[in-house]
Amino acid sequence: MNVLDKEAILNIIRSNEVTHFYHLAAILSAKGEQNPSKAWEVNMKGLLNVLECSVECKIDRLFFPSSIAVFGEGVDKNLTAQDSVLKPTSVYGISKAAGENWCNYYFEKYGLDVRSLRYPGIVGHQTLPGGGTTDYAVDIYYAAIKKSHFNCFLKKDTALPMMYMDDAIRATIELMEADGGRLQVRTSYNLQGMTFTPEEIYESIKKLQGDFTIDYQPDFRQEIADSWPSKLDDSAARKDWDWQPEYDLEKMTVEMYSAILAKQQN
Ligand code: SER
Repeated sequence: MNVLDKEAILNIIRSNEVTHFYHLAAILSAKGEQNPSKAWEVNMKGLLNVLECSVECKIDRLFFPSSIAVFGEGVDKNLTAQDSVLKPTSVYGISKAAGENWCNYYFEKYGLDVRSLRYPGIVGHQTLPGGGTTDYAVDIYYAAIKKSHFNCFLKKDTALPMMYMDDAIRATIELMEADGGRLQVRTSYNLQGMTFTPEEIYESIKKLQGDFTIDYQPDFRQEIADSWPSKLDDSAARKDWDWQPEYDLEKMTVEMYSAILAKQQN
């Protein structure tokens, strides 16, 4: 289904009697910079279609993923507060910052129960990443297993907020199942899992594969990464719906490495 096709969205909601809607379609940060107007159209028009359809079909609950990309200059990068100023530097970030405000608007104006998280970089083995600045943290596992070598497109000390897929899915479901009366944030909740640099993830993989080597060849994505925080203050999420991450870097690496190894051997 094309998220730009409003009729198609309406048909799917109606024919499946959808009550809870998870709207994940978007063009990510790095890809978005290559075609800004397309990224804006998919991310904004897509969201507006979903918001309109949700009201028209009286959807019970809608989920919208925001991102660390909403932040830019003017925040404390070492612990970015929930209510920090939003000065995104990428088209993707601009679309997510605007999207959060649209969600809040639909909540206030139409009573639509829309809930949102500012995802960090998500690391998982189920699918290959597509077009994000944090993608290196997935690619690195495949490169280790396939070639014992990785060319990293970020500098070795670029610390970014990250999260293992299992934590991200659990956070999403927990927010969607939370008591709406406790939710104070209807733009988007800061969400923190772990923070690491390329060098730290490399070291964690090297413990499992001693011959693994790495080179650093930063490209245009370095500038995007440099504009983002390294850690978010997610105390509002912890307070309002009891958020608690379970994975740290070591635990994630053990799972990622063995899952991808098993996939490559089959
Ligand atoms: N993972 C996303 C990206 O890199 C950030 O939300 O674009």
